[in-house]
Amino acid sequence: MPGNEIIDKKELAEITKIFTKSDGVLFAHGYDNRRKNIFRVRNFEKNLNKFFKTKYSLCVSSGTAAIKIALKACGVKPGDEVITQAFNFIATVEAIVDVGAKPIITNIDDTLNMCPEDLKKKISKKTKAVIPVHMLGFPANILEIKKICNKHKIKLIEDNCESVGAKLNNKYLGTFGDVGIMSFDFGKNITTGEGGSIISDNKKIIKYCKEYHDHGHELNPKFPRGMDTVTNPGFNYRMTELQAAVGIVQLSKLRKILSEHKKRYSILLKTLSSDIVTRPLINNATSSMDTLMLKVDNSNIRKKIINYLRSSGIGVKNVPDAIKWHFATYWKHAISKAQLNNLSKSKEKIEKFIAIPISIRIKPAHYKKVGVKINNFFSNL
Ligand SMILES: Cc1ncc(COP(=O)(O)O)c(C=O)c1O
Repeated sequence: MPGNEIIDKKELAEITKIFTKSDGVLFAHGYDNRRKNIFRVRNFEKNLNKFFKTKYSLCVSSGTAAIKIALKACGVKPGDEVITQAFNFIATVEAIVDVGAKPIITNIDDTLNMCPEDLKKKISKKTKAVIPVHMLGFPANILEIKKICNKHKIKLIEDNCESVGAKLNNKYLGTFGDVGIMSFDFGKNITTGEGGSIISDNKKIIKYCKEYHDHGHELNPKFPRGMDTVTNPGFNYRMTELQAAVGIVQLSKLRKILSEHKKRYSILLKTLSSDIVTRPLINNATSSMDTLMLKVDNSNIRKKIINYLRSSGIGVKNVPDAIKWHFATYWKHAISKAQLNNLSKSKEKIEKFIAIPISIRIKPAHYKKVGVKINNFFSNL
């Protein structure tokens, strides 16, 4: 997920302009004369709309904050249930707990994302929202999940923090649900250091998000900011102009980032011998290709290849290196025991995989060598 790998003079130039062209205004609102009418967070939001073909975007302080804000905007209240999936990042569960709701966890299917059949079983009268997560660049079966949510009139919040730029049926992930979430933290496809965004075509939802993330401010044009109108209580999850300056440049690099991923991913995939199993991609989908996942059924062989890859200088990321942050059975502090007991099949599934990161800083040709090393490992067993 290497937006951070290509930070360069362009981002620096945009940050410098904050001081040379808009007199050091780092705040997203107000200071109209001093900033000479330049609003970088708002411009970043416009650019996100253009890129993802959405009506509305809102930039916020993190992906985690974005999920929480979206839950509030979808009307999730204490005592409600929100369904998410076993292979995940803890942020979804934290956001659900933070709004006072109960996290309900589905198993994963062969996509390693939310299993639609299990989702059907987990829906109850208390279910208010569903958060499928497109993990490590690969789409969930979002059309099936959307059908189920529509049938039960449940809000769909798509966590697309890890798959910014991936598509299904030529439509960007994050644009299928009522709300889409992106993260721009330092490990993501594009980065603002910390930061996130909410995208939606739903005016009412985005209006609530805008107000809630900014102490309830309605940005009423009839009043200066200090006298602004307010209807609902809010909080502060604003993005700064510094982050937006970086984000605008990073977004302009996203197509290039995706094509650089694709070059390296395709070389590695093509080099791997045909009997090596990789993570399946659903029909008509394009991964953001920042991670190639290998399936190795035998646990001894798996351990050996992980050690072999590490000793050859090829990392293995989230699976298994950071699995405790990415698999629900490790979150006993946030999820009820009864929920966790059902997830053994998912655990078995995910533990068979190894996630190899694709890095733009590494030359494409190197991935041929990685593929050859992996083939050699298996042929020497
Ligand atoms: C799937 C997923 N959701 C949410 C988040 C939270 O994003 P942030 O780090 O911007 O709060 C992350 C970040 O790692 C993530 O991977």
